[in-house]
Amino acid sequence: MVKPKRISFTEALEKVLINIWGGTKDHLEDSLVRKTRKALVEIKGAYRFRGEFPKKYPSTIQYRLSKNRAGYLAAFGQRHAYLTYSHLKRVEAINSAVIPKPEENGGELVITILGAGTAIETYGICFFYNEESQRLRKLRLNLIEKIDAWIPNRHTVFDKLLKGTFPKLDIIPVDIAADLTKDCIPKFANYYDAIAKSNILLIYNVMNEITAIHSDLVWRNISFILNNCEQPLLILLAEPSSLKASPRVNWLKTQLAQASELILIRDEEEFFFNSDPLRINFENTGVGLNDRLFGQTMDGSKPQLQTSIKRTLMTCRIEPRSPISMEQVLRQLAMLKLKRGAKGRFIRRPSPQATFWDEHPDWYS
Ligand SMILES: C[S@@+](CC[C@H](N)C(=O)[O-])C[C@H]1O[C@@H](n2cnc3c(N)ncnc32)[C@H](O)[C@@H]1O
Repeated sequence: MVKPKRISFTEALEKVLINIWGGTKDHLEDSLVRKTRKALVEIKGAYRFRGEFPKKYPSTIQYRLSKNRAGYLAAFGQRHAYLTYSHLKRVEAINSAVIPKPEENGGELVITILGAGTAIETYGICFFYNEESQRLRKLRLNLIEKIDAWIPNRHTVFDKLLKGTFPKLDIIPVDIAADLTKDCIPKFANYYDAIAKSNILLIYNVMNEITAIHSDLVWRNISFILNNCEQPLLILLAEPSSLKASPRVNWLKTQLAQASELILIRDEEEFFFNSDPLRINFENTGVGLNDRLFGQTMDGSKPQLQTSIKRTLMTCRIEPRSPISMEQVLRQLAMLKLKRGAKGRFIRRPSPQATFWDEHPDWYS
């Protein structure tokens, strides 16, 4: 296998942007830099004015469109990637015992992400674990997302950003196409083993995308994950803290607080990325991605490089409800006339054909 080349965060982010735009060069050409600058100004407007001017800024952002994915990633990617690191550091300072320890499981960690997008927030988690020594060796990711256009983009995040920073890390992604506003339980049941092994559930910047009218179904889907965890599950939630976002987020915070052990809750916290190890700044090389996206050298939209982010935060933990043995699970499946198929999915168990002698046991008597 070719050894992945170590690259900086912004170099890797540039590869992801090229992948989103379908670019052919190994750098973002000027025309694509212009398009990205425009798209990122638009997406920020879309978040700020969503719901106020529905004709200009629709209430749902169409991530199927390349310009929205590229704009989103350029505007928030770096800060979202770093946020998980800062979040885990806060939790560690409160109670380090609640943080899953991959070294107790052969260096393996399982993370389930709701509204995964490019799953760029995995970067901060890997950085947290492997900052000083390689505690994390194998990362299994269950990536729940309704828009499949993100799939190649997030695989570029894994290949370039994660492998470029942590070359010895094994990444095993499982893409789970599911819309949280629909009944996801049959879909989640197909990935039961993978989901049940989760150590961390990440809910980052996704509830803000879902109107509260769907809260019953969304909670039913999340409850399936919470009720079936086989290990203590650390739940990390970070969502926009604006007044407008609160109806979409607060109901979930209340539900989680009732269903779990609360570790950290904040209505709003500002994270500053202006010092190492997570400093966000201009490269001052003239060719760095931040220089080209946020510098003053190009005409047209002038986006601003932001080095802090405000989020509402929550961290809580769920202990496995009742550890059910595999024998019990198999017995219950048999009662439901179901069995595990070759790929681990639940499939209907063929009912045995009754023979003539089963149906007429007293034929000769
Ligand atoms: C703002 S992005 C966040 C991506 C990533 N978690 C981050 O923090 O950068 C929200 C993601 O949630 C997805 N999403 C929105 N509604 C969803 C739903 N009902 N079911 C599944 N995914 C959804 C969107 O497609 C999008 O990829």
